[in-house]
Amino acid sequence: MSVEQSPGVLELYYGDAQLRDSIKTLRTNIEFAGIDKTIKSVAVTSADVGVGKSMVSICLAVAMAETGRRTLLIDNDFRHPQIANRLGIRCRYALSDLLSGSVRIEDVCVDTQIPNLFVFDSGSRRISNPVEILSSVRYREVLNVLYDAFDFLVIDTPPVGLFVDAAVISSQVEGVLLVIQKGKTKREAVKASMSQLEKANAHVLGAVLNGASHTASDYYYYHYGEHGRHRAGRGERST
Ligand SMILES: Nc1ncnc2c1ncn2[C@@H]1O[C@H](COP(=O)(O)OP(=O)(O)OP(=O)(O)O)[C@@H](O)[C@H]1O
Ligand SMILES: [Mg+2]
Repeated sequence: MSVEQSPGVLELYYGDAQLRDSIKTLRTNIEFAGIDKTIKSVAVTSADVGVGKSMVSICLAVAMAETGRRTLLIDNDFRHPQIANRLGIRCRYALSDLLSGSVRIEDVCVDTQIPNLFVFDSGSRRISNPVEILSSVRYREVLNVLYDAFDFLVIDTPPVGLFVDAAVISSQVEGVLLVIQKGKTKREAVKASMSQLEKANAHVLGAVLNGASHTASDYYYYHYGEHGRHRAGRGERST
């Protein structure tokens, strides 16, 4: 399917049992990935643009919410925010407003049509210095409050290979997922991103392989653990 013709992400999630199963496997792996305690906050990044980070973030957040966990999906991509748009949500205030201290969490938090799923828009237009903001004490404090207020945080970020934002965010959450697109993401780019994340002291949980090629006959699947400690996931469907 072409990107223009592609159905919305929720239609994809609910319409494809294999995608849903793969995401549930990813969810289970995250549930068992914590060493001393359950992982409650995950950042989603990639080496390159347009490989499905926002898609994975949304699907994972929906799958977490389906278990009854109060889940917050944060659009922390100040470079190319997509979450509100993809979910058809209008947000009056955004993360940027919260970070500037002008509004409260309850002003930013938007309810969705999915029970237990809440969203923060990024508010990118109002941000001129993302890295400075993400490195601030205020950002850390906000994340801590959100961590306590919700059962699970999914944070969508820009590509770690292009912007330093994702490395900064990743150092402040319990786990990071690296999305790789089959046939697009280069091995060297993955290696460079992994080393950047390791330098930032991020805990990389694994990779999510997104096999979408946007052609009508193609399919998508996710595989978790290619580069992480946990190897699990659905098998591939042949085309
Ligand atoms: N598995 C999939 N099946 C069908 N379409 C997909 C799949 N993964 C991604 N897409 C489509 O590909 C496009 C890019 O996906 P997405 O926006 O999630 O990538 P991204 O990595 O977040 O991009 P960016 O780097 O710009 O933030 C979107 O139109 C999305 O709907
Ligand atoms: Mg995105």
